[in-house]
Amino acid sequence: MSQTYDLVFRGGTVVNQDGTGKADLAVKDGRIAAIGDLSRAAAAETVDVTGLHLLPGVVDSQVHLREPGNEHKEDLESGGRAAALGGVTAVFEMPNTKPPTTTPEALADKVARARHRMYCDFAFYGGATTENVDILADIEREPGCCGIKIFMGSSTGNLLVDKDEDVLRVLKAIRRRAAIHSEDEARLRERRELALLGHVDTHHVWRDAEAAILCTTRLLRLAREAGKRIHVLHVSTADEIPILAAAKDIATVEVTPQHLTLAAPECYEALGTLAQMNPPIRGHEHRDGLWAGIASGVVDVLGSDHAPHTIEEKEQTYPKSPAGMPGVQTLVPVMLNHVNEGRLTLQRFVDLTSAGPQRIFGMSRKGRLAVGYDADITVVDMAATRVIEDKWIASKCGWTPYNGMKVKGWPIGTVVRGRRVMWDDELQGAATGEPILFVENLPRH
Ligand code: DOR
Repeated sequence: MSQTYDLVFRGGTVVNQDGTGKADLAVKDGRIAAIGDLSRAAAAETVDVTGLHLLPGVVDSQVHLREPGNEHKEDLESGGRAAALGGVTAVFEMPNTKPPTTTPEALADKVARARHRMYCDFAFYGGATTENVDILADIEREPGCCGIKIFMGSSTGNLLVDKDEDVLRVLKAIRRRAAIHSEDEARLRERRELALLGHVDTHHVWRDAEAAILCTTRLLRLAREAGKRIHVLHVSTADEIPILAAAKDIATVEVTPQHLTLAAPECYEALGTLAQMNPPIRGHEHRDGLWAGIASGVVDVLGSDHAPHTIEEKEQTYPKSPAGMPGVQTLVPVMLNHVNEGRLTLQRFVDLTSAGPQRIFGMSRKGRLAVGYDADITVVDMAATRVIEDKWIASKCGWTPYNGMKVKGWPIGTVVRGRRVMWDDELQGAATGEPILFVENLPRH
């Protein structure tokens, strides 16, 4: 019997759990309805994607969108536009806003603000403090919550849980996987004077590799004591990769495109404080070690740690300049360029940006191009050559550390639950973003 679909993508190359091959893909009611030869299928709309690849929707599981409290840097709407223009179909947003997301009400407020104001789908982290341990389990149950984040080292904002006994209390109180900013606060305080006025190249001397290694080692011990799973965000040292490889029973690993792309000292010479982030961009040996973690499979996901600050803020004299750089819009092209240069396969990129987040966070109905799943698709042209420029950046900060970088591989379309929200660098229609469902906090009907 012939079916009528809402939309059929015809003639593309589908990359999914079956490998890479030519196939049509049909959408009905926002879900994937068929994959295969659909040349005889009837559809309300047909889009010719000959020469393009259809990837499972790219999920950026670490972004800071600054709403509420710092909307001059970014808000949920502008951050969602940046995501969609960059081929990202869903984001997980961090709790270090003003106020921070440390109550169920604050998390529900973010969900309400984001719904149909963001072009992509979304989830929010709750933030752990030494004071909100009793309500962390309630935050985890809020619809749209992807889990609890612990800052073990201080960064932008004032969220911090650095003492062993407090980290343990948090880990014991939660049920889902905790996401951790892993830099040892005591060591950061001890070494603060190594951050030299006006010398951003001392950022990775102050916040050295040992601070990250020490903290990750402590964290693994505490997680074992609590019997809990952890996700180590933006791993930045070569040394943590074997440590985490020995702990895959409880630990998952994120790296950022910038730690894979930039390296000291050149990045500080070329970009100054624009390259300042926490944990810092380090030397070549660390970048090589992170690539080894990609090659060996130890790394589970890529997150951009999109952390916009205005140019005026970033131009303050180091160390007054804030840490963080935008990245949600450049994750796909920068990483596709690495694919084209042979540093990872397209299949591995898909593993890191869709299957990986699904495995770690238990996204419901997302993370796979398979029948029954949400029709979240990142459509890319692997042969397109473009130059990344500040003027393309939709984030309110208006700059990118990759300004002027020539890349091969570009996002052509962003499809969220069967709706094309971006095509050929243009946003399409109204924003229809919805909270992501997770198997660990499914709503009761
Ligand atoms: O560089 C960073 N910026 N690292 C973080 O952990 C926070 C982020 C921000 O929010 O600016």
